[in-house]
Amino acid sequence: MGKITIAIDGFSSTGKSTIAKQLADCLDYIYVDTGAMYRAITLFAMRKGFITETNFDTQALIQHLDKISISFKKNKETTKAEVYINGENIEKYIRTLEVSGFVSPIATVSEVRKKLVHQQQQMGQGKGVVMDGRDIGTVVFPEAELKIFLDASAKTRAMRRYQELLDKGDDITFEAVLGNVQERDRIDSTREDSPLVKAIDAIEIDNSEMNLEDQFHIILQLAKDRIAGRI
Ligand code: DC
Repeated sequence: MGKITIAIDGFSSTGKSTIAKQLADCLDYIYVDTGAMYRAITLFAMRKGFITETNFDTQALIQHLDKISISFKKNKETTKAEVYINGENIEKYIRTLEVSGFVSPIATVSEVRKKLVHQQQQMGQGKGVVMDGRDIGTVVFPEAELKIFLDASAKTRAMRRYQELLDKGDDITFEAVLGNVQERDRIDSTREDSPLVKAIDAIEIDNSEMNLEDQFHIILQLAKDRIAGRI
């Protein structure tokens, strides 16, 4: 049966990566977490001191972009793809609140987006891919056969992310996480280059009141229908 491209976009902490990974596992497709790629560049910029609380040296970052190589490798124990930068596994450093605080400004830089969109298009060129992010259905794969746009209330999303960070042992407050979620929504939706918007042909799902299992069955059915060419 022919393979399709599945684009999952939406606001931060709407559970895009959870559903994208479930779909990819079930359909035996490749899963690409594009947020991890923007987070990898953010960590690089933080380590080099290009971005701090008080300064963002955009030009220095742009000049170093061709020295950054991002890749994914499957962790054999968890079966989850982990992100590498120049050969170093940085998975455990990229989901902190600190990286989350800098990633949206980094993602406004057109040169960063150009580099990552190009790599994402190459990764998905053979179809059979589930990719999640903010601009997958609008910019990376405007021809994707199935586009999903996930949403949920800011409070619900912040609570989910807060719980994840607590489970990892991070010392944070709910207010800090909610503030970060709202600020990222604002920057991601209002940036000039590839703002977060729902593609006109995307199916919008608000999962504030939906459990993971119901959401998975609804979206899997949509994918199966698209694969069979029914809709
Ligand atoms: O999905 P995430 O929360 O890990 O993404 C982190 C940030 O990266 C998000 O706030 C905006 C940016 N991003 C983007 O601009 N385009 C994408 N395709 C994916 C993420």
